[in-house]
Amino acid sequence: MPEGRTLLERACRGERNGRVPVWIMRQAGRYLPEYRKLRESVDFKTATKTPELAARITLQPLERFPLDAAILFSDIMTPLEGMGVRLDFDPGPVLEKPVRSATELSLLEPEEGTPYVLETIRRVREELPSDRALIGFAGAPFTLFCYLVQGEGSKDFMEARSFLREEPEAASRMLELLGAAMTRYLTAQAKAGADVVMLFDSWAGLLGSEVYRRFVLPITRRAVCDVREATGVPVIYFANGAGSMLGDVREVGADVVGIDWTVPLSAAVERLGPSAVVQGNLDPAALFAPEAELEHGIRAVLNEGAAARAHVFNLGHGIHHATEPDRVAFLVDRVHEISAQG
Ligand code: CP3
Repeated sequence: MPEGRTLLERACRGERNGRVPVWIMRQAGRYLPEYRKLRESVDFKTATKTPELAARITLQPLERFPLDAAILFSDIMTPLEGMGVRLDFDPGPVLEKPVRSATELSLLEPEEGTPYVLETIRRVREELPSDRALIGFAGAPFTLFCYLVQGEGSKDFMEARSFLREEPEAASRMLELLGAAMTRYLTAQAKAGADVVMLFDSWAGLLGSEVYRRFVLPITRRAVCDVREATGVPVIYFANGAGSMLGDVREVGADVVGIDWTVPLSAAVERLGPSAVVQGNLDPAALFAPEAELEHGIRAVLNEGAAARAHVFNLGHGIHHATEPDRVAFLVDRVHEISAQG
């Protein structure tokens, strides 16, 4: 595959090419009427496990908006099923029983454990225009650990965070296994056709710097490094809520650092240094503002992102399901136009 073919890949490698690429976290999902329509006849898990449907859903937002990338339609919990975990969605993940030991998990063999994910990627890459990137993704080890130990979503993942202190060795073995499994999973996704891969660390912000550095940073850094070495594809790392730990997040060594909407992008660039490539970070709620105000917010994010080596425009978290699709059309259009003038 030729290197840096798409605008997104080039930005991830630190190049500025006149225009800032844009995609949106959770761009395939419930705010789209065509997604809701499809989901009337099929449950979420079945949709993720049926390559024909998952590929169609992945491409839905690109049929409406001139986005620079598609992101695989799947879930961070999906590969855990290939590691022996029984779970469902209601609408968030719910496990049959919590997992508190690495011995309850098998190491993922992506071709056997998640064949439908790899088949979805092959199908999408075939249909996607060659100037649009396909983003593969996985949950970061700590975020998967949170769901495994807690058994379901939570505001504070107290069970998971106390398990780290009560049983540090068992916790470390789980995190290590998850790191190795997600390395294999992302490597397989890149080999199937993902141009860029992303690690979602949705709950990293629940940790203080000391615990993050002790339990999470080393295994996350190793996963990022191993995936890049095995595949050469750029890795985006998004540690949600970790604005006060950007110094630690930087040490993960990802090509691109995702920034949530609570941190001004200019402050993030200051912490990460001018050689950093950043992704983000318009507040998803900004899409509910009047157009002039939304445009003002978009310009502010673009201006602040200009201090970084390169910038990938995105929201600072997943798009809200009540968002009007027309506002997304406006956003993508404005990012393209304003950044091309830049
Ligand atoms: O971004 C995309 O469009 C790609 C698809 C994607 C989904 N989940 C689809 C989904 C991605 C990248 C994810 C990641 C994910 N899943 C994260 C990390 C990002 C974040 O939000 O912090 C997390 C924590 C999960 C776990 C999860 N899955 C939750 C909490 C929920 C329910 C709440 C919600 O936001 O919808 C899910 C279900 C889920 N995953 C849906 C979708 C489209 C909704 C399913 C439906 O009802 O149709």
